[in-house]
Amino acid sequence: MEIRVGVFVCDCGTNIGGVVDVSDVVEYAKTLSDVVFADEGRWICSVDYLNKIKEYVKEHDLNRVVVACCTPRTHEPTFKSTVKEAGLNPYLLEFVSIREQSSWVHKSDPKKATEKAKDLVRMGVAKARLLEPAEETRVSVGKDCVVIGGGISGMTSALALADSGFDVKLIEKNNEIGGILCQADKIAPFEAQASEIVADRKKQIEERNNIEVYTGSEIQDVKGYVGNYKVMIEKEGEKNEHDVSTIIVATGMRELEPEGQFQYKKSPNVVTQLQLENMLKSQDLKDLKEVAIINCVNSRNDMRGCCNVGCLISIKNAKALKEKNENAKIYLFYRDLNIRGPEVPYFKEIIEKYDIKLVRISEDKMPEVFEDDGRLALKTHDILLGRELTFNPDLIVLTTAFQGDATVEKLKGLLKVSANDDGFFQEAHIKLRPLDFASDGIYLGGCARSPKSARESIEEAMGAAMRAAIPMKRGYVEAEGIVADIDYEKCNECGLCAKNCAFGAIELMDKRPEVIKAICKGCGTCAAECPKDAIDIIHFTEEQILAQVEAALEEEPQDKILAFCCHWCALGAVDMAGVGRSEYPFNIRIIRVMCVGRVDKSFIMKAYELGAGGILVAGCEFPTCHYITGNYKCKDRIEKLKKKLEKDGKDTDKLWIVWLSAADGPKFVKTVKDMVDNLNL
Ligand code: FES
Repeated sequence: MEIRVGVFVCDCGTNIGGVVDVSDVVEYAKTLSDVVFADEGRWICSVDYLNKIKEYVKEHDLNRVVVACCTPRTHEPTFKSTVKEAGLNPYLLEFVSIREQSSWVHKSDPKKATEKAKDLVRMGVAKARLLEPAEETRVSVGKDCVVIGGGISGMTSALALADSGFDVKLIEKNNEIGGILCQADKIAPFEAQASEIVADRKKQIEERNNIEVYTGSEIQDVKGYVGNYKVMIEKEGEKNEHDVSTIIVATGMRELEPEGQFQYKKSPNVVTQLQLENMLKSQDLKDLKEVAIINCVNSRNDMRGCCNVGCLISIKNAKALKEKNENAKIYLFYRDLNIRGPEVPYFKEIIEKYDIKLVRISEDKMPEVFEDDGRLALKTHDILLGRELTFNPDLIVLTTAFQGDATVEKLKGLLKVSANDDGFFQEAHIKLRPLDFASDGIYLGGCARSPKSARESIEEAMGAAMRAAIPMKRGYVEAEGIVADIDYEKCNECGLCAKNCAFGAIELMDKRPEVIKAICKGCGTCAAECPKDAIDIIHFTEEQILAQVEAALEEEPQDKILAFCCHWCALGAVDMAGVGRSEYPFNIRIIRVMCVGRVDKSFIMKAYELGAGGILVAGCEFPTCHYITGNYKCKDRIEKLKKKLEKDGKDTDKLWIVWLSAADGPKFVKTVKDMVDNLNL
């Protein structure tokens, strides 16, 4: 079929037209191979001009469209819809950013800005000529969810979903639901008994006929994907498979018990906060004369940060001790008091009203606990008084750090999700998708993610339930057409692609890898890592990207920096530099990939072969890759490639890598300037 490319170049009022000679770019576009039509529009994203594009597609029988205007990060969906309405597959569109990457950042030299705009259009056309139609995949999603964990978060999520009309299976490994609250005394700042909260939630759950509770049960296997999960639940040795559409993980947390510190487990009078809560529930504690509470035990050190709830728990329990025994002296050894928001006045009042004695300590001089004449003794340095103090408390309470539940290790494998060293699950993106896992249809909330108060856990559990409700309410999820495509003639069934996929989107069927299109995100890591070059990414194929590399380096390659930028943070930073009108050298030509996980060694080798002056790979800073591991994989790949290039006698100083946040416009600008200076471009 004859390739017929139409190119539409925007003035964007004076945003582009005030710097770039748009008519000249249009005339240039007409000279490019397979371009049969090119036009200039004042505002090509206006409804009028979008209608014109549809007419031009028909009138000139166009089967590929290139728009040269602003950034794809904001306007790609608009033009995709237009192309679709014109009767073309939306993946036959290529987007060229001549505003953020040229007119806004090279405004002091219109001639060079115009030359660069021409280069960018040439690169766009080179890719467009090779574009192929792609299909979006729709997967139906039912109305049932498994909630793993029957603590306050799990119970809250289950109730929220049940009340929205969804069927819920609530799985709890213990024989009772309630989680860590079963061990707690009171919940601050509500002044409510934890047992009453658990009983109330339990009663509500019993009243719902769309929640099935499985206590004493564990998840043994999980297969499938959003809308089609098969979850194996084992109860008393009996295993049953359940089909569900979504999964919420609410496995909670537990105390990280100190080992060989503060006389813990050596003296019965040294306990953790949770052990104290049990004592508060079952003992009158009238004999206590002096209690020392030590905060930040194994928190805020090289291993982990603030536990987030220790200060709150310690003050709450100091009050509970005073209520039991008003004559007891309570000393609270603290580093900083991390109390936030509406709870500040409540806790301040407790400290003053109950005369809790605060002793400020530092990390390098944590209190020393020892036996002295058969009694417990505590020696510390008060950093406010600037002197050593010694105490003889009857009871020492350790406010320990927390860790994720013991089941996390097994669950993370079954769900193919990540957890940190403390056993807390890792969300898809801390800012953009805090309650989602990267895999569609699996969500998380409460202390499974990080230590939280009961109030925060309840809020987050409601959020997780609402996230799970979205696809269940809609009844389907739609996956983009940008997915992996396997060439079985080249594939030798090594299985690396399945191992490298952070989304579990490649399944091995008797060693033969198969892409589950509904869950493939098209990051491209599998393609770049495939040793046989047997995988391509639709819409970002190797052939298309190499064509862009060639087009970018067609003229004066020795002066050019060829950059591969991920669509998310790196291109965000490029756009931010544009929005800030920050000028930087003309030399850079950017090729967009969805993730730097896609950056194949062959792209870089090609740039070397064609004599690029510099090569830049720019991705999201760690750990915020939008495809979880793409930036890590890319970093390892480039490091290995550098060694190989060095061996081959290539100048590896040319190859730069930078990790950016979407707000890092200035860092991107500095990188380009540094490259130009260092490489004498
Ligand atoms: Fe930016 Fe993966 S999306 S590096």
